[in-house]
Amino acid sequence: MTCAIPALTPLQASLWLTLCGRALDNRLPHPILGDKTADEVVRKTGYDYKQLRIPSSSAIYIAHRARKLDEVARRFIARHPDAVGLDLGAGLDSRALRISPPPTADWYDIDFPEVIAARRELLPDDATPHGIGADLTGSTWLDTLPTDRPAVAVADGLIAFLAEEEMISLVHRIISHFPSGEIAFNGYSTFAVRMQKIAPVAQAIRDLSKFPGIDDPRAPERWHPKLKLVREILCTREPEVARFPPVLRLMNRLSARSATLSRKGNTVLVYRF
Ligand SMILES: C[S@@+](CC[C@H](N)C(=O)[O-])C[C@H]1O[C@@H](n2cnc3c(N)ncnc32)[C@H](O)[C@@H]1O
Repeated sequence: MTCAIPALTPLQASLWLTLCGRALDNRLPHPILGDKTADEVVRKTGYDYKQLRIPSSSAIYIAHRARKLDEVARRFIARHPDAVGLDLGAGLDSRALRISPPPTADWYDIDFPEVIAARRELLPDDATPHGIGADLTGSTWLDTLPTDRPAVAVADGLIAFLAEEEMISLVHRIISHFPSGEIAFNGYSTFAVRMQKIAPVAQAIRDLSKFPGIDDPRAPERWHPKLKLVREILCTREPEVARFPPVLRLMNRLSARSATLSRKGNTVLVYRF
């Protein structure tokens, strides 16, 4: 069955980059994430992923950081079975299917209303246990969420599109709403910001990114007094690198020797509050 490609703004359409990255990873002989749902959505919409010019290395990095964010959410929910999970800027990602939270936890996908509507069209029902169609820079999207349960918020690919003050306000709103929790997002270094201006794969989002970049993982601790770094995941040092194709594996093994070099690439930052 084929499905129409939803009409989205350029900002919303950035979701294709990460979705297609995960779909392409799934087509590799040794996928890092193995996201079959992403692959199915790309196939059934017939989305022309070739126009995005995603090299297999980028597909692997997109899949790898998604896997790390899945682990953060899964571990938090294992420790707090009554947790509230939030996917901030969820796009068409079916993280809830991958992490499969227990019935005692609640998972919310938040993105613009058009994106949440597209999720309902294109993803299986259980991929969006709760969908909130809202601009995350607004203040009302949290209103209907419980205030008395620990929360884990993950943001995969969102941070680039927020100005630093918008990210800080978002963090403040989450911390003042929930009693405790974790916030995790893919790191976005100033090197990555510069690369985004020139890399062919980032052409679709070149003019949309607003975030200045983070080189010091402790810098976000200054965003809010309760925010504390729990873990900086340097993806070059993660076990999945062993399954990368040989040249990419070698590059990652070499970069892994230096934290500074590793920070320029794929990282996931995890904070508690
Ligand atoms: C690169 S995509 C990543 C999507 C998804 N997390 C993934 O990994 O496939 C960025 C997503 O952030 C969403 N987004 C950006 N700014 C937003 C905002 N202010 N409010 C809600 N969603 C936003 C976009 O609509 C888009 O779906």
